[in-house]
Amino acid sequence: MTRIPHHIAIVMDGNGRWAKKRFLPRVAGHRQGVESLRRCVSACAARGVKVLTVFAFSSENWNRPQDEVSGLMELLASALAREVKPLKDSGVRICFVGDRSRMGEKMRAGFAQAEADTQHNTRITLNVCFNYGGRWDIAQAAIKLLASGEPVTETALGRHMALAHVADPDLVIRTGGEYRISNFLLWQSAYSELHFSPALWPDFDEAALDAAIADYASRERRFGQTSEQVLADAAPAALSSASSSAQSSVPQAASIRP
Ligand code: FPP
Repeated sequence: MTRIPHHIAIVMDGNGRWAKKRFLPRVAGHRQGVESLRRCVSACAARGVKVLTVFAFSSENWNRPQDEVSGLMELLASALAREVKPLKDSGVRICFVGDRSRMGEKMRAGFAQAEADTQHNTRITLNVCFNYGGRWDIAQAAIKLLASGEPVTETALGRHMALAHVADPDLVIRTGGEYRISNFLLWQSAYSELHFSPALWPDFDEAALDAAIADYASRERRFGQTSEQVLADAAPAALSSASSSAQSSVPQAASIRP
């Protein structure tokens, strides 16, 4: 049986090129990207993935042409209006992650409503990173930690990061054939496995997702240990998991010495 990642995070890249190949405006690619996201949420939930985090709009995306930025904002508004109810009904908890200070009042209210409407769902958590940047996240966590007066430790800082409500991603996928992290989950992906898919995001289908999961399942996760240590630790764990229903098979990096 394939080892399923508990948490998958995705840089959904390639919408613009998908549109360009079809002589369509870039925003048509983003619209198709929303379709692909809907399909991906459902495919992840069906495979037992418990958390899906997607990079929908980066802190740097404000620098795109004005019509593309406003097209993305309109898409977000229409996705809030159309998608929240079906997601709620299929057991998805929605969380928005990012700097909301630059978002309009209406959008912020939409985020809060979607989060409140779905807060008790447990099938899968969908984190939508919007106006998000990994450096912003580390800085905002540091500001909160200093204000709290707590001593600065990795664990304390981690508690203030924007994704503190979920475990770190096991697998980070980037579509679109580029090999970059682009300021996504800089803190949280310290021990994530990385998978780069050549598929443009609108073409990222169930087969591409399964290929990413199979690639992940083939990796040995060592968290700074040696291969021998990992195998020795896995032997008793394998025996005990045979008698209990396994959840995420992967320990969190914070619990392991470097
Ligand atoms: C990167 O592709 C993609 C984005 C900047 C936006 C991703 C957004 C979506 C998939 C849909 C939006 C989701 C919501 C909830 C509104 P690119 O434009 O950089 O593609 P390119 O590299 O081919 O130019």
